[in-house]
Amino acid sequence: MTARIASAFAARFGGEGTLYASAGRINLIGEHTDYNGGFVLPGAVDCSITAMMRPNGTKFVRVRALDLDAETVFGLTEEDKPDEAWAHYVFGVCREIRKCGGSIGGFDAVFAGDVPSGAGMSSSAALESAFAYGLNDLFALGIDRFGLARIGQATEHNYCGVQCGIMDQFASVFGRRGNLIRLDCRSMEYSYFPFDPQSHGYWLVLLDSTVKHELADSPYNRRRASCERVVEAIRRRCPRVELLRDADMRMLDQVRSEITDEDYRRARYVIGENERVLRVCDALERGDYETVGRMMYLSHDGLRDDYEVSCEELDFLNGQARSFDVAGSRMMGGGFGGCTINLVREELYDDFVAGACKAFTDRFGHEPKVYPVVISDGARRVE
Ligand code: GLA
Repeated sequence: MTARIASAFAARFGGEGTLYASAGRINLIGEHTDYNGGFVLPGAVDCSITAMMRPNGTKFVRVRALDLDAETVFGLTEEDKPDEAWAHYVFGVCREIRKCGGSIGGFDAVFAGDVPSGAGMSSSAALESAFAYGLNDLFALGIDRFGLARIGQATEHNYCGVQCGIMDQFASVFGRRGNLIRLDCRSMEYSYFPFDPQSHGYWLVLLDSTVKHELADSPYNRRRASCERVVEAIRRRCPRVELLRDADMRMLDQVRSEITDEDYRRARYVIGENERVLRVCDALERGDYETVGRMMYLSHDGLRDDYEVSCEELDFLNGQARSFDVAGSRMMGGGFGGCTINLVREELYDDFVAGACKAFTDRFGHEPKVYPVVISDGARRVE
């Protein structure tokens, strides 16, 4: 991929620039908890967006998206927002850097990647993080890694219409080979969790339904609004509750008659999921992967029934995992399509993957994609 990018850069702009990359992510557990101030347990994966970049001494940015065979030019002021949706990520990063005082000029860039898009593996965070990391380095801005993740998140909020949490950009920037990251999304304290399921006889594999239903952005924002309404109701009794992370089931039950049944179920899921992340961390420390797997199934149940962000294809793949007696399985990411993450005992792996793919194809008429998970490094300069 780097050779392809370098030769496209030379052909389009002449010479060469510096290469930067950032990764897609998985999340073992802790879905829709980040914007509620809760815990997540993601890790970067071995697929990434790579960009070759070079300052061009002008006030304009020229970017080529190799995989889309598309190119655009934009200036660096708010009025210069390009029309192309893919370019909003790059434009947003430039704007957010400028808003926090980073003085960047124009540059030329060519990027490409192998993070499957729409799979729930955060290709957009990988794109934002590659550019944020690269611009920080090229223009010697001195922004720390937290700042870079925040720039990516603000890009989603202000230029892409998704009121996302910090998990994806955080994982993409902070990812470390062989480690998951337990992040407390309220205090932003984090710790690396060595994660090597294979040494315990388990493999982690993603089954990508390759579907993306409706525009996932607006239901996502609606889920967030539900959580905020519940917090408001709870706060009237317990003012110290600022985020759903601070609430427990007793507090939620106290306000049950003051909120809709739908909002109640949304909050019940989030409170349960937060606890599950902590239980999974404890189980991982003991090497107890069966408990990890059970928590994954419970997470899926909540995402399907209470949070209602699953879909028929994901439920089907989850059902396949159950029928093959796979240790754990759940839908991953924002939902409404994308993939399931599956924790599979080694001896079941081949049968499960082949069986689930066949059953899915028989049922839906197209094959799912299979991605074995390799936990890898996040944002970096590529030498
Ligand atoms: C998307 C968002 C994240 C997070 C997940 C759900 O990936 O970008 O911030 O909320 O959904 O866990």
